[in-house]
Amino acid sequence: MKSLLIAFVSVILGSDIVQAHPGHDDQEPLEYVNFPFQPAYRGPSGEVTADAIFSGITTFAKLPWVQCLGKERHVPFDIAFIGAPFDTGTSYRPGARFGPAGIREGSRRLTLYGGYNVPLNVNPFKSGLEIVDCGDIPVTPYDNKWAIHQIEEGHKSLLHRKAFSPLGNDSVTGERLSPITLDGVNHPRVITLGGDHTIVLPLLRSIHSIYGPISVIHFDSHLDTWKPSIFGGAPSPQASINHGTYFYWASQEGLINNGTSIASIFRHGAIRTTLSGPEDYEQDDLSGFKRVEAREIDTIGTDGIIKRIRETVGDGPVYLSIDIDSIDPAFAPATGTPETGGWSTRELRTILRGLDGLHIVSADIVEVAPAYDTNAELTTMAAADVLFEVLSVMAKTPLGKVAKPPKN
Ligand SMILES: *[C@@H]1O[C@H](CO)[C@@H](O)[C@H](O)[C@H]1NC(C)=O
Ligand SMILES: *[C@@H]1O[C@H](CO)[C@@H](O)[C@H](O)[C@H]1NC(C)=O
Repeated sequence: MKSLLIAFVSVILGSDIVQAHPGHDDQEPLEYVNFPFQPAYRGPSGEVTADAIFSGITTFAKLPWVQCLGKERHVPFDIAFIGAPFDTGTSYRPGARFGPAGIREGSRRLTLYGGYNVPLNVNPFKSGLEIVDCGDIPVTPYDNKWAIHQIEEGHKSLLHRKAFSPLGNDSVTGERLSPITLDGVNHPRVITLGGDHTIVLPLLRSIHSIYGPISVIHFDSHLDTWKPSIFGGAPSPQASINHGTYFYWASQEGLINNGTSIASIFRHGAIRTTLSGPEDYEQDDLSGFKRVEAREIDTIGTDGIIKRIRETVGDGPVYLSIDIDSIDPAFAPATGTPETGGWSTRELRTILRGLDGLHIVSADIVEVAPAYDTNAELTTMAAADVLFEVLSVMAKTPLGKVAKPPKN
């Protein structure tokens, strides 16, 4: 029965090919839609089949895999996905080292019908940008100090390259755009798949080397600006850098632009954790952050939160860090330190789309620990879909500015 069906289908497809393109064996039938990144297979009898979304080797959104840190380091790109499988800075549930693999698994359907983002009116996969999956940065699980060094080096190696596409001209004024980097070179963007949140310290060190002190948008249910003496850091210099203190260190090192960074928390951005006391907010202020609390969504809504974020960061370069625990554990249970009372996946996606037009120079999603997920892969799907919004916003806004005309 099965072989009969295949024979029947191949007769139909085969005859279509012959009729549509007589003598052009290299062409695909007109009815065949080439979805992005799904290689087509032409069988011995001539029929063409797209690779199914559930088959093949899993990269983010089935993007092409480029060995950016290895033998293909000269292949240029505009946006790179890279994993940082590090979770030895975690205070509660470990397991985010499997985050990159899990998020890729959860992203398989992103390009099923091509990847067009309806509300943002863009298909990032067909925007002309070269977008690739670089695999993972090799990270040791035995030595945090060395691992943090490896993550910084790996990120820098990608970020310091020249972007594949030219910046082009401003869509409003038509004038030529120039890079917003310190060195005047148009560098690519990197989207990092964590890993626990500690990885943001080495990522911001890398960002600093290209952009200087940067505004940060931080979605999290926790502040992560805790002093090491409060958050587990007392035993040793190694212990003082962990997933609750990395923003404290980033601020101390001058990596964050004080006053123009915002944390949407359940303690930052989507902030909602319990605190050691009100002084935790004082330390957060000192680290340069303004806050929107998760519960404020009930009063000011997603529009109000978007407005607060945009007012705070302005239109300069901004780094975006998303802890999956900003989403409620009902929607994203597989995370290191879950907090109830969070946003829905829909709410976070709406807020991210509201960042349209901001100059997001790079981004990450962290604390996805797939071992605690449901069989339905809720958390890894949520992480992948959240990144789809980030990618769409990036694809719409080139990292350039129009040079101010000289005054006569
Ligand atoms: C871009 O702008 C430059 C000058 O600002 C102009 O010379 C060039 O023709 C523009 N290119 C396009 C495609 O509009
Ligand atoms: C932000 O403030 C902290 C002190 O609270 C300081 O150490 C850091 O250098 C400042 N960052 C910048 C970019 O000025």
